[in-house]
Amino acid sequence: MTEKRVNSNRIATRIDELSYCSEPTAGGVTRLSFTKEFQMAQKLVEQWMNEAGMTVRRDDLNNLIGRYEGKNPHAPVILIGSHLDTVIEGGKYDGMSGIVAGIEIVAVLHNSGIVLENPIEVIAFCDEEGVRFHSTFLGSKAIAGTLTEEELQVVDENGISIASAIRNIGLNPLNYKNAARDSKDVLAYLELHIEQGPVLEEEGVACGVVTGIAGASRYSFRIEGFAGHAGTVPVALRKDALAGTSELILEIERLAKEYAPIVATVGKLTVNPGSSNVIPGEVIGTLDIRDTNEQRKNEVLKQIFQSCEEICTRRGLQCHFDKVMEAAPILCSDSIISVIESAIQKNNMRVIRLISGAGHDAMAMADLTKIGMIFVRCTKGISHHPDEHAIPADLGLGAEVLLDTVLQLTKNETIVKEKI
Ligand code: GLV
Ligand code: MN
Ligand code: MN
Repeated sequence: MTEKRVNSNRIATRIDELSYCSEPTAGGVTRLSFTKEFQMAQKLVEQWMNEAGMTVRRDDLNNLIGRYEGKNPHAPVILIGSHLDTVIEGGKYDGMSGIVAGIEIVAVLHNSGIVLENPIEVIAFCDEEGVRFHSTFLGSKAIAGTLTEEELQVVDENGISIASAIRNIGLNPLNYKNAARDSKDVLAYLELHIEQGPVLEEEGVACGVVTGIAGASRYSFRIEGFAGHAGTVPVALRKDALAGTSELILEIERLAKEYAPIVATVGKLTVNPGSSNVIPGEVIGTLDIRDTNEQRKNEVLKQIFQSCEEICTRRGLQCHFDKVMEAAPILCSDSIISVIESAIQKNNMRVIRLISGAGHDAMAMADLTKIGMIFVRCTKGISHHPDEHAIPADLGLGAEVLLDTVLQLTKNETIVKEKI
């Protein structure tokens, strides 16, 4: 039996504590980037990072970074991270598990007086979910050096740009490039995350290793019709933007089923002018589409755009799609997968390999360095929902695997030398 080193209850308690840093919504956790709830969460994380022997800084894109110095401060750093933001009425484990587990393993090292050759940095990323601006990975892209000035001009539904939101919390958006890291200063990026799917539960195993992450695209669309009186205009003569959108959504669902396992979601609609007695004149919506197969995703997108044209022409509507985010599918590093697999075995578990359908900061970090991900079983695979849950023992085991992975990486000459 492997000796347990991490404190599972502390991990679970901290995840609970973070869940109180939320807007007062009906259920679950709502913590969007650049808000006061987010700053409250950062304060807690900063305190825990300090207690674990880390020096803490906030970079120019509002990522919080704790550093546990290595024997050799110039050795490439092992980055461990996940995101501190949530979806609206989301769960408390998505993102937070990876941050808290990262802090926990540093606490174990610190409390045991162990200093590794390589420095470790734990990162609480600023915006992975992309709820407010619809574009994702703001923090991790800034660190990977792939964020562009153009992306900072994207606006939320109140017309506030990312750049203004950054300025409003006291940072200068023009400094965003300072957050970028140099790949030669980084050894690897590791992320622990709840699975957000049912596989580990079905297999009866607490943790698994991720081999790759599906690619994702996000679009915003606008369908324009003609508003009018809901009592006087015969239905056959209307240009109802919402009726046309409804037809489009059903077509998207049909195509996604036909091309399974692709997934496509219209998750948000704004109906204008938005009155019960006015025919909808305009609908603004979002489309999120994901697949491990880029070619299939592009084919389905092509068909969605064609169907949209056809529906709108027939109904006398106008439509327009804008791409707001594109992340190609990525593969995790084979060498890190092997290290995680041996860490899983060391912790007396069967190795289960998984593909992630959900997006993760690791996708953006793959442009900077080799990445590895550990998934932790979650109840019934529920996520992006208030009922999201993972048991303390599983989170603890995941953290043990993370710790063994880090210990192995600092010793593994091949990985130290291997280029991405
Ligand atoms: C993030 O959780 C995403 O997959 O959208
Ligand atoms: Mn999420
Ligand atoms: Mn997540």
